[in-house]
Amino acid sequence: MMRKSKSTAKKLARPRVLRTLSAMRTWSAQVRGKRETVALVPTMGALHAGHLALVRLAKRRADRVVVSIFVNPAQFAPNEDFSSYPRTWDADIAALSELSVDAIWAPGVATMYPDGFATKIAPGGPALAGLEDKFRPHFFGGVCTVVAKLLLQVAPDFATFGEKDYQQLKVVTAMARDLDIPTKIVGLPTVREKDGLAMSSRNAYLSADERAAAPTLHRVLKECAARLKAGQPLATTLGEGEAEIESARFAVDYFEARHAETLTKVASLADGPVRLLVAAKIGRTRLIDNIGV
Ligand code: PAJ
Repeated sequence: MMRKSKSTAKKLARPRVLRTLSAMRTWSAQVRGKRETVALVPTMGALHAGHLALVRLAKRRADRVVVSIFVNPAQFAPNEDFSSYPRTWDADIAALSELSVDAIWAPGVATMYPDGFATKIAPGGPALAGLEDKFRPHFFGGVCTVVAKLLLQVAPDFATFGEKDYQQLKVVTAMARDLDIPTKIVGLPTVREKDGLAMSSRNAYLSADERAAAPTLHRVLKECAARLKAGQPLATTLGEGEAEIESARFAVDYFEARHAETLTKVASLADGPVRLLVAAKIGRTRLIDNIGV
């Protein structure tokens, strides 16, 4: 008698991989026709536990989950890591199969940006807060353009974004609101390694020494939040924090306290709710992190 092997018994339905706009639209229309709700998880692939937590959140919110995998050239400057950005397709599909994701939206660059493509979204408000935008001026225009397209292509009820990219979460939320896109943007707290380092596809670039120093960012954010809550003045706290991060061989782009919703400048906790945000380079890798106070 043939016995069912363990691996056959556990065999999971692979998600549908959709590569053309018409296939994506047909899938979405069929699901809505059955009155099922849809959640979209936009990613650039190289999936880690942070992305997978977004997928689990999406599954709790909706009947069907689509994960988009698209390394978006429009959000990389010419000197940034578009061509070397990690691409781990097979592992990504395996991880998404494990989570029983329904569909993967994986358009090529020519599908997303066909010849003659000429329209860009120019976000304001939190996109001009003087944080990431100051160091990556092209970035939020590229993010908003691709996220608006993804939301129109998939037409989800929900889309999930991580607080790890805190300014991005606020920018995308404002864009969906301002353009009357009927998708609810849902945020998820940052998923971290055991030592506190925020999970990121770019952590793969760190050397062993850099990786050992990298948790400094989260440690300093936590310590500064605690000092602020204990009544220490903002300017002193930010100065101390920046010095500690620099002593771990980081070059700091910014270490700032902002209003958690608008990202405008704050003078003290009384102007809050307050969020501390940091971006810093260690070797050639730029890391970002943030924490609520
Ligand atoms: P990517 O860096 O692949 O991240 C995809 C989503 O995962 C984002 O919402 C991001 O905030 C979230 N994420 C990343 N690391 C996380 C962590 N440690 N904990 C929780 N969430 C985390 O962000 C982008 O792609 C792109 O800009 C995109 C929105 C897909 C547009 O191209």
